[in-house]
Amino acid sequence: MAKTRRFLIAGNWKMNCLRKDGRALASALARRMAKTKGTRPPFDLLVCPPYTLLPLVAEAVKGSGIRLGGQDCHMAEKGAHTGDVSATMLADLGCKYVIVGHSERRSNHGEKSDLVKTKAEAALAAGLIPIVCIGETEAERDGGKTLAVNRRQLKGSLPDGATAKNTVIAYEPVWAIGTGRTATPAQAQEVHALVRAELVKALGEAEGHAVRVLYGGSMNPKNAKELLAQPDVDGGLIGGASLKAEDFWTVAQSCL
Ligand code: PGA
Repeated sequence: MAKTRRFLIAGNWKMNCLRKDGRALASALARRMAKTKGTRPPFDLLVCPPYTLLPLVAEAVKGSGIRLGGQDCHMAEKGAHTGDVSATMLADLGCKYVIVGHSERRSNHGEKSDLVKTKAEAALAAGLIPIVCIGETEAERDGGKTLAVNRRQLKGSLPDGATAKNTVIAYEPVWAIGTGRTATPAQAQEVHALVRAELVKALGEAEGHAVRVLYGGSMNPKNAKELLAQPDVDGGLIGGASLKAEDFWTVAQSCL
């Protein structure tokens, strides 16, 4: 089936940037986007800065078409949850997306798929698009469990009420995150095809084919074109390479 889905190029800044750097990075991207005015590039551009920079980045990208997202959210709307931030609060700051279930949340904070699912549902309730992350560890891949792990995480994390419009999936092999080791295009496509098949089972033919499935894990200006050319790769969730405007922009240009 020909690719009809619009690419999503998402920058996950993680715990990086103070205000000066964040403003400079967001402004540099906004300037590049401004130059495309009238041409409608074939990708949506999204930045997910740390919470501390959200208002400032919102201001810097205003009117540029660049979308804003959070890196996590709590499953409750409000209440006694010291240190947490709700999806409603993110929406209030102008966010359109929120990453949930990133492998660094799963490993550093012990988050399991059932929690990720409730977070994704909180995002939907707040009108945000959750980017639901899944991915196998190196040991799981070496043990031949790649497909089983990704199937289990997807089934466990997919929010009730998911549609192609309101939910995005990101496949991020843990062994490729921040390591400089990227999945080969064939390795990525193999898992993306599985995700696609599971989405079709869960949501039906039309919706399942329309959900955007991103690849993440050391995507960079050198390897992006080949990865994005895979039939079921609909964009990227980019960490390291999203911290340099030129690199992130070059990745986005790889969609053209
Ligand atoms: P990376 O991070 O591009 O630095 O590997 C991707 C991610 O963790 O989202």
